Amino acid sequence: MAVPQAGHPDLILLRRIGTVDPYSLDDYRAHAGYEALRRAFAIGPAGVIREVTDAGLVGRGGAAFPTGVKWQATASQPDHPHYLVCNADESEPGTFKDRVIMEGDPYALIETMTIAGYAVGAHRGYLYLRGEYPRALHRLTHAIEQARARGLLGDDVLGQGYAFDIEIRRGAGAYICGEETALFNSIEGYRGEPRSKPPFPVEEGLFGKPTAANNVETLVNVLPILTMGAQAYAAIGTAKSTGPKLFCVSGSVERPGIYELPFGATLGDLLTLAGKRDNLRAVLLGGAAGGFVRTDELDIPLTFEGTREAGTTLGSGVVLALDDTVPLPRILLRIAEFFRDESCGQCVPCRVGTVRQEEALHRIAERTGAAAADDIALLREVGRAMRDASICGLGQTAWNAVESAIDRLGAYE
Ligand code: NAI
Ligand code: SF4
Repeated sequence: MAVPQAGHPDLILLRRIGTVDPYSLDDYRAHAGYEALRRAFAIGPAGVIREVTDAGLVGRGGAAFPTGVKWQATASQPDHPHYLVCNADESEPGTFKDRVIMEGDPYALIETMTIAGYAVGAHRGYLYLRGEYPRALHRLTHAIEQARARGLLGDDVLGQGYAFDIEIRRGAGAYICGEETALFNSIEGYRGEPRSKPPFPVEEGLFGKPTAANNVETLVNVLPILTMGAQAYAAIGTAKSTGPKLFCVSGSVERPGIYELPFGATLGDLLTLAGKRDNLRAVLLGGAAGGFVRTDELDIPLTFEGTREAGTTLGSGVVLALDDTVPLPRILLRIAEFFRDESCGQCVPCRVGTVRQEEALHRIAERTGAAAADDIALLREVGRAMRDASICGLGQTAWNAVESAIDRLGAYE
């Protein structure tokens, strides 16, 4: 299939990156900025939600939940106030797409948060930004100030009688604060520990009020949906995974970076664009919470349904290429260390399970990669307990990469 390359006019999400001045509101407007907000005001909140639903937009943070359903559920709650939260705590190892958007096109995020707030009936938006992104912080802070000064945020946005403003909150380096309910706790001044769901945030979210929480990339997709229309947007990609997707390619490739492709391109297409090496051994899809695939599986379509059918996950779009010089047991141990370190410790399966998993992998590594059958059996038992009984996604996915390395790559054989 034909795939657009960097700088190609078919780019949708990245089209302004590198061409627009991130410090200039006028330049943003000259590049079609604020056209989508004008259309939003023309069609009203229900019209915006209808467009987003008809476009088939699903969350790009990793879970692929339908955005229109989330917004409709938030908008229809009788309890007030409603809040909008932009999850910009991008912490999945190998993920750096939201950073590129926020640094290169900050007004796009401000505009689309305003649209989302309007759609769900919120007058206040929180942008929870990964603490390690100081350049994004600087540019977003400047953009918010400029938008406020020019009547694009504040009591009367664009003279339409709608009040909306945005506050930035910085994370402090805890991976778990990217989990939406831990993020709410962090904003509220509590420990960053996930809450049990349900109730979902659409009913009881930030400060116990109805809240729509969306990832950065999800939100910026709303701009082309409103400017090109839901039908044209839905024609991009596949029937079940519509629109463009950003992929974060790193590791053993010639040209690591962010690639925008329509859903449906294959993993092989993407790796060819990024400069696949001959000694490629495996690819980690979806980050530490994702799974490995083999080099004979590169025809996997990069869609939510295609990766699911192939027994793996697209997650937030991480594509980490490993060549045959990379010591796989060391990588697995590093992933296990990461989860043990980042577990908030609130629930037993994850608090204890991530420690047991790391211990087993240490034992295996000390035997220079050879695993005793009882270690593998223990890993499976602990992994199952974490997946079935953990409160949040961290514990539920902490065994994914190790499991896929054992089952798909034959690690430790
Ligand atoms: P989830 O499946 O529990 O929820 C996804 C979203 O849908 C949430 O906003 C949730 O509130 C909403 N939702 C689900 N069911 C609902 C219902 N019945 N009614 C209303 N809303 C509902 O997944 P979670 O734990 O939020 O995210 C897990 C994903 O996050 C993983 O797939 C992982 O790939 C990704 N992730 C991404 C990171 C990044 O840096 N981008 C970091 C870590 C994980
Ligand atoms: Fe905390 Fe892990 Fe339980 Fe999530 S699964 S609440 S990170 S202990």
